[in-house]
Amino acid sequence: MERLVNKRILLGVTGGIAAYKSAELVRRLQNAGADVRVVMTSSACEFITPLTMQALSGNPVHTTLLDPEAEAGMGHIELARWADLVLIAPASANFMARLAHGHANDLLSTLCLATGAPIAIAPAMNQQMWADPATQRNLLILQEKAIRVLGPASGSQACGDIGPGRMLEPEELALAAAGMFDHQLLTGRHVVITAGPTREAIDPVRYITNKSSGKMGFALAEAAAEAGARVTLIAGPVSLPTPNRVQRFDVVRALDMYEASLDVVNKGCDIFISTAAVADYRPMITADHKIKKSTEEVHLTLIKNPDIVAAVSAHERRPFTVGFAAETRDVVSYAQGKLENKKLDMIATNDVSGSNVGFNSDNNAVTVIWPGGHKVLPLASKRQIAKQLIELIAIRQSTGNRQFQE
Ligand code: PMT
Repeated sequence: MERLVNKRILLGVTGGIAAYKSAELVRRLQNAGADVRVVMTSSACEFITPLTMQALSGNPVHTTLLDPEAEAGMGHIELARWADLVLIAPASANFMARLAHGHANDLLSTLCLATGAPIAIAPAMNQQMWADPATQRNLLILQEKAIRVLGPASGSQACGDIGPGRMLEPEELALAAAGMFDHQLLTGRHVVITAGPTREAIDPVRYITNKSSGKMGFALAEAAAEAGARVTLIAGPVSLPTPNRVQRFDVVRALDMYEASLDVVNKGCDIFISTAAVADYRPMITADHKIKKSTEEVHLTLIKNPDIVAAVSAHERRPFTVGFAAETRDVVSYAQGKLENKKLDMIATNDVSGSNVGFNSDNNAVTVIWPGGHKVLPLASKRQIAKQLIELIAIRQSTGNRQFQE
């Protein structure tokens, strides 16, 4: 079931008594981590209300093709593109016929034509209708079109007949849906990433910060989500859009980032990547009002911020902990020191003395160090570096190489 984490499932519901089971299916899919949007045909609405499905899925339910209001939100083409899987449960004999022959006379059938995602159907109908040669011919056409057919099961039916035509149970359908996704490098892992700078207030209008743009951390979040992980991104003040399928928390001060990080780690996560350029110090006092330039000199007393990544690596529910090191000289030896002092599983170090890598650049070049090994990732875009780094982290984490865990 972990393969459903972050997956986008468009659940089509057609008319049939089994439609009531689709409500339970929504819950199963969501509990497994999937994002579910529901599309109902008009006959499905005779069996179960869109309101029920909306309340369960937490998203508006789509019922008609030419609804200007719905098209202004997520239009039908957008919805078709959004899906990773279109699952139609129950699929009536009528819908199977329309799907087999490429009809586009309502929203659901149109979506099926417009999507590039795999389609699976869970037929549900009276056993005689299922056995009818027309339905069986349609079934063959659907299979030829590489549409996955899940079930039907055999047994007693709502109409009193006994035979094949019962929709599979929601649990079975959720499992089958999970089986349609490949196992990815980070499937089932919860990855937490800090990114960007922190901002330490001097007075209401002034603060201490640094040049971090958040690009490296956001690229890592995107790469981790693409590798199948559930991703939590804790971002300092940056102006970047949230990557797809990533849950983002915005923070400002190092203390906020510390709290947000420890909060997620307390609940349990598998990998923590500390890309943020956390301010090491903050003003001891933040003035309530703007400091006036009445004197020649102003003295600021700075006090140390807590070390977030060190606290995470010392935590009793310690995840695989990865730090970054921003250095301007002796890059590898300083990073080696941080790896040991902060008791990290891995550290990625970058030389930030130039402008073509590191802070705010679109590119980076890092040396990744772990106890007993290292790897150089030469100059490339931050997205490429992120992909390589995520791959390396996934491999090291799964081999359980944690020198400092005991
Ligand atoms: O955001 P970009 O513009 O894309 O730039 C990317 C980057 C240069 C910021 C990034 O690649 C990087 O090097 N991040 C780490 C920056 C840093 O603060 O390094 P450091 O050597 O000072 O800290 C070492 C490690 O301790 C880091 O993982 C840091 O997140 C962590 N730390 C530091 C201080 C603190 N109080 N808490 C921490 O968790």
